[in-house]
Amino acid sequence: MKLVHTLTDLRSTTSALPRPLGLVPTMGFLHEGHITLVRRARAECASVGVSIFVNPAQFGPNEDLSRYPRDLDRDLGLLELAGADVVWAPEPAEVYPPGYQTYVTVEEVALPLEGAVRPGHFRGVATVVAKLFNAFTPQRAYFGQKDAQQAAVIRRMALDLNFPLEIVVCPTVRERDGLAMSSRNTYLAPEERRAAIVLYRSLSAAQAAFRAGERGAEELRSAMRNYLAAEPRAQTEYVSVADPDTLAELERVDRDALFSMAVRIGQTRLIDNFVLRDGVWETGSLIPSIPFSQRTLGEGEGG
Ligand SMILES: Nc1ncnc2c1ncn2[C@@H]1O[C@H](COP(=O)(O)OP(=O)(O)O)[C@@H](O)[C@H]1O
Ligand SMILES: [Mg+2]
Repeated sequence: MKLVHTLTDLRSTTSALPRPLGLVPTMGFLHEGHITLVRRARAECASVGVSIFVNPAQFGPNEDLSRYPRDLDRDLGLLELAGADVVWAPEPAEVYPPGYQTYVTVEEVALPLEGAVRPGHFRGVATVVAKLFNAFTPQRAYFGQKDAQQAAVIRRMALDLNFPLEIVVCPTVRERDGLAMSSRNTYLAPEERRAAIVLYRSLSAAQAAFRAGERGAEELRSAMRNYLAAEPRAQTEYVSVADPDTLAELERVDRDALFSMAVRIGQTRLIDNFVLRDGVWETGSLIPSIPFSQRTLGEGEGG
């Protein structure tokens, strides 16, 4: 596995790699969710590239850019084990050199939900992902279902801008109690960590209501809101039952639907979703009982 920092070194490395090349964009501080994407790319592609870049352009002025968790050495160990061929870890000035002024704006699909609460977020995401696509020239790029609107925005951008690649969206990987894995989970104090299962549980409550016959989208949103309201540490930012491709809110769930939410637990902002496609629920998968970090790093027994 090769670690490169400059765009020049990345280009000379990727040009020598066998194709198809699979790209996994990340912000580092890797967990089993990221590693699942790398393994999937490894299984489907001749070469695997990973980017580790905490992208300043996708953080708002009052967001957690400066305290976003980082551990490049640990990440590299995990990526080596997972079978990555090249890792690009650029400095911000390599991606956004002085005088930088070009951005990609995806319109409607980027406006609601995350886009409404985090103005400019998807402009930053679409811009950096477009640059990653140009830098790696991958044949496939792997994203997580946890960031459902991000996946929809990237799909739209790749189609609209004629990027010649396939976007692969992989199921959400969850902790044993159902909490979606995220680098930001590390911010949670123990009591907050226990409260954070309310996202998964409220999605499960909406799924149960749907299975019991409820088709009214507002009723299903209410089921999630009510469940979240019962957790005093949880502050709901939004709950949504929307079209998974356009993100337009639904009135009735008589077709594909994305059930999603953003919730603050203390100061930590968490998102999660279930998606119903062709009558099949995609709810993600729980990790095996021994935590990933302990399985691969040998830090002792799982508990
Ligand atoms: N629990 C998860 N399961 C599957 N994919 C995930 C998970 N968490 C993050 N990803 C995916 O990993 C990629 C990089 O996300 P990143 O922002 O680095 O991680 P995080 O969401 O933990 O902050 C994105 O495509 C994201 O959707
Ligand atoms: Mg993220």
